[in-house]
Amino acid sequence: MSDNDHNLVIGRIDLLAKGVRRLTLTHPDGAELPAWTPGSHIDLHFSFGGMDFTRQYSLCGHTDDSRHWQVAVLHVPDGRGGSAYIHDNLCEGGTLRVAGPRNNFPLAPASNYLFVAGGIGITPMLPMIAEAEAKGADWRLIYCGRSADTMAFLDDVSGFGADRVVIQPSDTHGRVDLADLIAHADPATHIYCCGPESMLDAIEGGCADWPSTQVHMERFSKREDDLHQSSNPFEVEFARSGIAATVPADRSILEIAEEAGIDVESSCQEGVCGSCETAVLAGTPDHRDEVLTDDERAACKTMMICVSRACSGRLVLDV
Ligand code: FES
Repeated sequence: MSDNDHNLVIGRIDLLAKGVRRLTLTHPDGAELPAWTPGSHIDLHFSFGGMDFTRQYSLCGHTDDSRHWQVAVLHVPDGRGGSAYIHDNLCEGGTLRVAGPRNNFPLAPASNYLFVAGGIGITPMLPMIAEAEAKGADWRLIYCGRSADTMAFLDDVSGFGADRVVIQPSDTHGRVDLADLIAHADPATHIYCCGPESMLDAIEGGCADWPSTQVHMERFSKREDDLHQSSNPFEVEFARSGIAATVPADRSILEIAEEAGIDVESSCQEGVCGSCETAVLAGTPDHRDEVLTDDERAACKTMMICVSRACSGRLVLDV
């Protein structure tokens, strides 16, 4: 277990909305947990059916509560099984292996924020709103969902008032016009969006002319289009061990590193969590992750080796 791993106790489980459970995690000795910032997530590790699983969840509690971490988990019946396991098998008093926290979705300093949340995408917005409030920033939240009974934390956010928060259950209020919202936003606004793919795509389209540094997205999983990108083989050298290998078209750098006995941290294996970020010493990465910003991609200093590949024929990595 690394310093980043913790065995935590599930102190409490609350049903927040239809299909949404909140887990409150504590240290077994009641000790303080590592500090975190708004936008951070943790990895929950568990095993079932003879297989190991890791799932990422945004921390949604209070950053100044150093003895509890809270995550809210949506039950996805046709998902990959992780949320069903969490809903059906975890009990108060049980333990969980947890890694993190890690922040790939940090809140940039700004005077003006537009938070757009879809469904369980509300979770990272809660600590962001708390920070925006604490700093006296101007902010608005657009919170969309299928129906009010599926939308967690409604009481928490509606308490800020209708001039700050728009609650938009689509069954009674229809869909929000995101393009119109963006068109009327103050140009200095930083937009934060977390929700389903269609919502992220709409925000991305509406913000095509905005500086990329002001548009911040968190994806639950890799984009559908990215799953079908073609790949070529290339050479990789792991500088610390001097091991060199070919990465075939159908395998990842991470797989090749693990096969060579090189210890690399990883979690989601989809390019969304940031845990396998690796420094690039030579060569040009073909970035295929959802973590790095445009500027970070252009700098070519690091890459997510679970999904990203090489534009050049050879990469040298600092592992
Ligand atoms: S393992 Fe999550 S980004 Fe690579």
